Amino acid sequence: MAEALDAVLGLCADGELPPGIALAQLCLAATDEQGARHALAHALADAAPAPRRRLAAVYALWNATPAAFAVTRAVASTSAEVDTERTPATWARAFDAAAAISPEAAVALYSLGRPDLLASATAEIVDDLRARGVLGADRRVVDVGCGIGRILAALAPRVKEAVGIEVSAVMIAEARKRCAGLENITLAPGSGSDLAPCSSAAYELVLFVDSFPYVVASGPALVVANLREAHRVLRPRSRLLIYNYSYRGSDDDDRHDVSRLAGELGFHVLENGRRGLRRWDGAVFDLMRTG
Ligand SMILES: C[S@@+](CC[C@H](N)C(=O)[O-])C[C@H]1O[C@@H](n2cnc3c(N)ncnc32)[C@H](O)[C@@H]1O
Repeated sequence: MAEALDAVLGLCADGELPPGIALAQLCLAATDEQGARHALAHALADAAPAPRRRLAAVYALWNATPAAFAVTRAVASTSAEVDTERTPATWARAFDAAAAISPEAAVALYSLGRPDLLASATAEIVDDLRARGVLGADRRVVDVGCGIGRILAALAPRVKEAVGIEVSAVMIAEARKRCAGLENITLAPGSGSDLAPCSSAAYELVLFVDSFPYVVASGPALVVANLREAHRVLRPRSRLLIYNYSYRGSDDDDRHDVSRLAGELGFHVLENGRRGLRRWDGAVFDLMRTG
């Protein structure tokens, strides 16, 4: 446990973890809240000036978010229970429970349940999409595993239309609230293995934001099924963007699998797992449907 805490604090001190991610990981690695606070205070006292500034940002964030420990642990415990049968249905139940605790933390633990932190991370993802040239008034988007609809709501003024597909009923209900009144946004329950609500060759962008890890965790057949479906609904030379491929802990394994699957299923890899975001440590896989 102490090793896990030291590892998180070391990465944070080195500037490799944004404060929200560091705090969420610290809360998960500790036995109790007092132990986490003690470890952070200890690291701060020992740190050189630059690492100290980074650790102090985590300290300040925690002081501004007193419920961080309780929210992070409660939400994470809903997924921790899915350790035997990993299927879209069991993930749906876990995310139903997580969203009932905190919709914001359920889609992004590092938001610590705070709408303002989530909004700032969402804005960075939208900026990243804009920089990749995949948004525009003529673009139709599928957001797979759309959760509470935060990306859809942010994309609404920037695209022609967007469809959110989601396996969790509580998430879809939250998304309906957030996207109420946005006429170019539709929401559809999904099976987790297909994009049945979407027509073939009708979209310019398919997005998975932190949802693909649950596909990977459900097994290779589901991975192939989802990628085949993304290929089916995309127009030729259109894009598939996956923010985080898995939570297996090896970027190299993820890059290897993505390049192999892309070759087999008709995609060209434009970017293979780069971690360039500042408010979130997501790895970006940018693929183009060939032909
Ligand atoms: C961490 S949340 C991210 C939600 C959203 N993409 C966001 O970034 O705000 C992961 C979401 O993926 C959904 N999910 C998991 N497996 C899925 C699957 N096979 N198909 C569609 N959605 C899935 C979960 O229900 C959950 O809402």
